[in-house]
Order: sequence, then structure tokens, then C-alpha cells
Amino acid sequence: MSDSRNAPEAPRPTAPAPAPGASARRTRAKGEPRFPDGPRPDPAGSHFERRIRSFQPRRSRVTAGQADALQRLWPKWGLDIDGQRVIDLAELFGNDNPVVLEIGFGMGEATVRMAAADPDTNILAVDVHTPGQGNLLNLADHRGLSNVRVGNGDAIILLREMLAPDSLDGVRVYFPDPWPKKRHHKRRLIQPEFLTLAASRMRPGAVLHCATDWEPYAEHMLDVLTAHPDFENTQPGGGFAPRPAFRPLTRFESQGLDKGHVVNDLLFRRVPHRVHP
Ligand SMILES: C[S@@+](CC[C@H](N)C(=O)[O-])C[C@H]1O[C@@H](n2cnc3c(N)ncnc32)[C@H](O)[C@@H]1O
Repeated sequence: MSDSRNAPEAPRPTAPAPAPGASARRTRAKGEPRFPDGPRPDPAGSHFERRIRSFQPRRSRVTAGQADALQRLWPKWGLDIDGQRVIDLAELFGNDNPVVLEIGFGMGEATVRMAAADPDTNILAVDVHTPGQGNLLNLADHRGLSNVRVGNGDAIILLREMLAPDSLDGVRVYFPDPWPKKRHHKRRLIQPEFLTLAASRMRPGAVLHCATDWEPYAEHMLDVLTAHPDFENTQPGGGFAPRPAFRPLTRFESQGLDKGHVVNDLLFRRVPHRVHP
């Protein structure tokens, strides 16, 4: 058997220099983070593995501009949802202004428009989609907004593990994944258990605003929200709400409208805490 311990080390293979004009991109080593200063992949990790996910895994390309924003702005405005601590929202935003949670902001265009229109309200915008996180950071930076923070990870873990009771002044869920197949209905975000959790983090009077272009999901939302004891419909006669002027057209909404879908808004208020005798 030959002993290689004292043998001179063979030179490590080096990547050939890119041909002139070719991309200098290289493959990352196993375990090497995609954005060293940016959002962590799956920040909550296996600790919360057994949950049902309301999002679909998407591997879309991150543009150079989005990558730059993730590297540059994540340390300042990003929050990895690791489920490890309760966050101080006043510290996160640097002020005591009301905080609205937006779940599933997509590419963030509607988020920045709402943040710009209402600078005294802080928006904690959460999604798992890396290109969208970069896009939102970029848009907020270009507009000079200081009232947006970007959460990376599952909103359920954020609500359950990282937000204090009564800490939110509103929750927005615009065009959540509709999960149209019956066997996938359990993955829909708007379910009685989610409503109980969200209500526990909302101050009495805070409004949960949902919108969807998938009519069976809209009917389901209306049913579970109407039946839930922690919420009351802001529409005195019940039913769907007229689209409020403050909600901009979102990317998924416009795709739905192009397909002829009908959009429904639902605005439900968190009721005062019940006093137990
Ligand atoms: C259909 S898209 C809608 C995006 C955007 N609101 C719009 O209207 O254009 C739904 C988004 O919600 C995100 N999402 C779904 N469940 C989530 C969860 N539990 N936590 C964070 N993001 C979630 C998905 O990653 C996706 O980007």
C-alpha cells in the first residue's frame, strides 16, 4: 500500500479563465451561500419541517440588480424568519408607527406603492421568493422609503414564533396561491387555524385584508372569515367589499384580469378581546 501522506500535494485543478466576452460566473461550492450578506436559504430550517407549506418552491433567476440589492440592503432592511426570537417591531423600524404585515408580496410593486402613499405606516412584507425580495429592496431604495422591511421565510413561523400578541395594526394577503386542486386545498393559507393565529397577533380593530381572483377560494375565504369568532366583516351587510382605492393593482391580479377572472376583496376587523367571566 503506498503512503501518500508525505507525497507532494498535487496542484488543485483551477477553473479555466473565461474566454473573452464569456460570462465569468462560476458554480458555488456546496454549502457556500448564494448571497453572503443576503437572505439565508430556508432560515427556519428543519426545526419547523413538519408544517404544511402554503407556497410553492420556485427557482427563478435573480437579476444582477436584484442580487446587488440583496447584498447591499439586506443587512439594513432584511429579516430572516428563523423562528428563534420575538422581534421588537419598534426596534426593527426605528419608530413606534403602526405596523402592517403583508404576506406574499411577490415582486413588491404594490407594496412600495402602498408604503409610499402612507409613510406613517410601517410595512413588514414577507415572502419566500428571493428575486422578489431583491426587487422590493431595490424599489424601496429607489423611492427613498424607510417604512418597509423585508422578511424572508414562512409567514406562519413569523406569526407564531416571532411576533408578540396584539403587535399588528393590519394584515394583507393579496392573491395568495389558490391551490385549485381539491387535494391541495389544505395548503391554502386562509384557513380557520391561520385566522386564529393572525388574530392573536392583531390589535382589536386591526383589519385583515384579503384579495383573490380565484372565485372558489374567495367563497372559501368568505365562509371561514364570517364563521370566525375573532373577526367581523367591515361590510355591514356581509359579503365581499368593494375594492378599496388604496390597494394598487398587483402583478398576479393583472394576470388574473387578463384571463377574465373576477377579483374579490375581503376586509374583516379583529374584534375586541372577549372577556371571560
Ligand atoms: C400568487 S403570489 C401573489 C404575489 C403578489 N401578492 C401579487 O398579487 O402579485 C403569492 C405569493 O405568496 C407567497 N407566499 C405564499 N405562502 C407564503 C407564506 N406562508 N409565507 C410567505 N410567503 C408566502 C408566495 O411565495 C408568492 O410569492
